Amino acid sequence: MCGITGYIGDHKTTDVLIDGLRRLEYRGYDSCGVAVVDAKNELYLRRVSGRVDALDELVAQDPAKGANVGVGHTRWATHGAPSEDNAHPHTDCSGRVVVVHNGIIENYLDLKEKLLASGHKFKSETDTEVIAHLMEEKLKALHVQEKAMRADMLEPVFFEAFRKTVGDLKGSFALSMVWASCPAMVLTARMHSPLVVGLGKGENFIASDVSAFLKYTKRVIFLNDGEMAAVKKDGIDFYTFQGKKVSKEAVTIQWDSTMAEKGGYKHFMLKEIHEQSEAVENTLRGRLLPLGGDVLKAETGLAAAAMKGFSNIQFIACGTAYHAGLVGRGLFENFGLRASADIASEFTDRAKLMAKDTLVIAISQSGETADTLFAVREARSAGAKVLAITNTVGSTLTREADYVLQTHCGPEIGVASTKAFLGQLAAIYLVAGHFAAARGVLSATDARRYAEDLLKMPRLIEETLELEKDIAKVAEAFSHSEHFLFISRHINFPIALEGALKIKEISYVHAEGYAAGEMKHGPIAIIYKGMPLLAVAPSGRALELMAGNIEEAKARGADVVAIVDAVSRKTVKASRYITLPQAGELFTPMLTVIPLQIFAYYVALAKKCDIDKPRNLAKSVTVR
Ligand code: F6R
Repeated sequence: MCGITGYIGDHKTTDVLIDGLRRLEYRGYDSCGVAVVDAKNELYLRRVSGRVDALDELVAQDPAKGANVGVGHTRWATHGAPSEDNAHPHTDCSGRVVVVHNGIIENYLDLKEKLLASGHKFKSETDTEVIAHLMEEKLKALHVQEKAMRADMLEPVFFEAFRKTVGDLKGSFALSMVWASCPAMVLTARMHSPLVVGLGKGENFIASDVSAFLKYTKRVIFLNDGEMAAVKKDGIDFYTFQGKKVSKEAVTIQWDSTMAEKGGYKHFMLKEIHEQSEAVENTLRGRLLPLGGDVLKAETGLAAAAMKGFSNIQFIACGTAYHAGLVGRGLFENFGLRASADIASEFTDRAKLMAKDTLVIAISQSGETADTLFAVREARSAGAKVLAITNTVGSTLTREADYVLQTHCGPEIGVASTKAFLGQLAAIYLVAGHFAAARGVLSATDARRYAEDLLKMPRLIEETLELEKDIAKVAEAFSHSEHFLFISRHINFPIALEGALKIKEISYVHAEGYAAGEMKHGPIAIIYKGMPLLAVAPSGRALELMAGNIEEAKARGADVVAIVDAVSRKTVKASRYITLPQAGELFTPMLTVIPLQIFAYYVALAKKCDIDKPRNLAKSVTVR
């Protein structure tokens, strides 16, 4: 994971780098650092074990003088514990080459052994540090008379040594490098980790994600795997790893930087929970009617005729996105269309079974999740077509899929996913509706009703959000509990899983999400007197059975909070109720998840947890 930043220009370099890191902290936040070349062509390097705020303070105590080029990094530890020594940037033995890296260098042990044998001294346990020392070797091999040469004459040397260094690396990387002897250029390269450059006027930017520099520019160019860039103040040149120049098109990002700010909320998570109605509305807008027509074709490439040709739907995703996939499976099956959902990291053998009549729907907020990308590649090489549902324009997933349906949720900063999940559900309901109508499973009348029900959801989500205060009270009542159970059935079963995941992530308590019918096959044994059990029980075909399962849990001492609507409330007996607006049965997951997100939020708040940056996690999981 990790986030990298790079800058060259006349703004105060450490400020630009640190500001960018703050916006990338969602990618990892156990340690961070910056390195800039100062006016005397010396390297200024500051690192901390901890958050970007601490780095900012450290830099403020003793600021860099006259710097206009540098790199920054915020880390999610893979190789080596989170500590100052392991924090990036890393330097070579001379202390003049400095590198930041996101990804994993798979052959680092091999490289390190050779570098140690040639006398290099390592200061960290990271895989990244080998890159700096390898660069030192490559520079040495080019017999550079560093001191005798003008800085601009060193540019081709810097470029060539970097290109050779990159050529020796195996694994995944987005890396940026600065050489104090050649401060008019930052070099950057990409292989299997996200990397984007931002185009300014007399200044340019490098980052793992556009949010790092949106404040300065919206014109960006995404690098592909196997590409590198020489970034100077007045321009950027792109090359392949073989050194061949490539021309690339800039795109303009529609997000603005204020969308990535808290806007008066205490946490991004709460702000994003409140943006869910908008996320659904924006994702549905202009894409629903006529259901079964070719409305998705121009944007995604997926024509109604093609929908008729697929006899299997296979969802793949991780975490929360996987739960959206499970809802999708239920939805397609409800229409009598064959569908499965798998966790991307457990898909390896099944991927080989994918055939041409399978549409794989890969769901990923970031579009950069390594497990999902790997599963997509496997499925495509077996012959399946892939539809990507993602929130991130220009992400790797969008470039590898056959069809792309973008969710329009805006940037999601809180590590625990909320509005992205609702956006994913909206996209899935769209696709499922179009499939069912195109294949004649939905009659014209049913298709109209489906579309009407779906279009009501943004308003019903708004109404559900008005229950926040009541839900907060329930959460506070249970905030000392260390164990939680979440149960449901049928299309809401994935919501029980999602409820448990949310509270685990941000409150660090033990929680289980279970299919209610499965409880009696074992898990019911863990219920003790007073154990909080959140039962998702809206109206619908599963209600009678759910009511029975709730009785079974109560009989064993569970303290039940029932998520109901006005109709199902009459059937379910619980000690507390959260009563949602009435929605069409199939659409209830879009509402039932909201009280569980809010519940998790307020339990975490009562426990004083770091809600937007939970321990051990990172938002974008770019390692397998
Ligand atoms: C949970 C959460 C994660 C992500 C998962 C996939 O709140 O955020 O479980 O859903 O890591 O991430 P994306 O959707 O970016 O592929």
